Amino acid sequence: MTGTIAGGPSLTQRIAEARDSIAAQTGDPVELGLILGSGLGGLAEAVEEAVIIPYAKIAGMPVSTAPSHAGELVLGRLFGRRVALMRGRLHLYEGWTAREVALPVYLLRALGAEGLVVTNAAGALNAEFRPGEVMLIEDHLNFTGTNPLTGADEPALGPRFPDMSRAYDPDWRAAVAEAARTAGLAHRAGIYAGIAGPSLETSAERRWLRASGADAVGMSTVIEVIAAVHAGMRVLGLSAITNAATGGPEQRPDTIEDVLANAEIAGRVIARLLEVTLPRF
Ligand code: HPA
Repeated sequence: MTGTIAGGPSLTQRIAEARDSIAAQTGDPVELGLILGSGLGGLAEAVEEAVIIPYAKIAGMPVSTAPSHAGELVLGRLFGRRVALMRGRLHLYEGWTAREVALPVYLLRALGAEGLVVTNAAGALNAEFRPGEVMLIEDHLNFTGTNPLTGADEPALGPRFPDMSRAYDPDWRAAVAEAARTAGLAHRAGIYAGIAGPSLETSAERRWLRASGADAVGMSTVIEVIAAVHAGMRVLGLSAITNAATGGPEQRPDTIEDVLANAEIAGRVIARLLEVTLPRF
């Protein structure tokens, strides 16, 4: 049957099974889901009253293989909100389909989350951005070549043709900007281009992405955000700028070590930003 994963059950069924398999451990409904990107897992340590569920214990949950992605769901309280936090995400480059990449988002929704905070590591196409800085995502360009809503329509999950004109909630973006100003936290704002990876972009591709209007590029987020908007969730996106990706003559080769080191620096800013912003959500 089209649209199901490998001819198996529908996504709707799979999510219900995943939710039911952990229902006994989840306690109160969660308010907010969070997905932590490469090198940004540290935020999970700030979760109070944490209940940790490895993905392998969640029925039907694809298990992430990416380096520095732990692969666990953390339930608890973060900066005053009841959260479900995915420490470790699924990427297209691991071979998962877009539907599988989106499954955890629908699971967060099924656990009660009405909003989603996504973080990621990204290369700076904008020459003004520096590694270690944070970019508030204003909008995205989906250059992955795929979409999680492709295939059989599952009305229980959301509408067939969801509006994406304000995918990153304008009120939440304003709240972050305002909270950051009050707390004296510097950040950038811009457009995130999502690619499938896992090879990094050529220099020509980076110049083309910049010309297309993007400020940063990465290998995640866009599939999850499409699913979140489809599911009726408000979305906040934050990118840790981990490397310069301008594709000009000054372009230096990228290393995963630099990416992870700068993700950690920016990750501390992201944690502070969320600390001052989440109480306003
Ligand atoms: N390109 C794609 N993904 C990335 C990059 C990049 O330069 N940096 C971190 N993730």
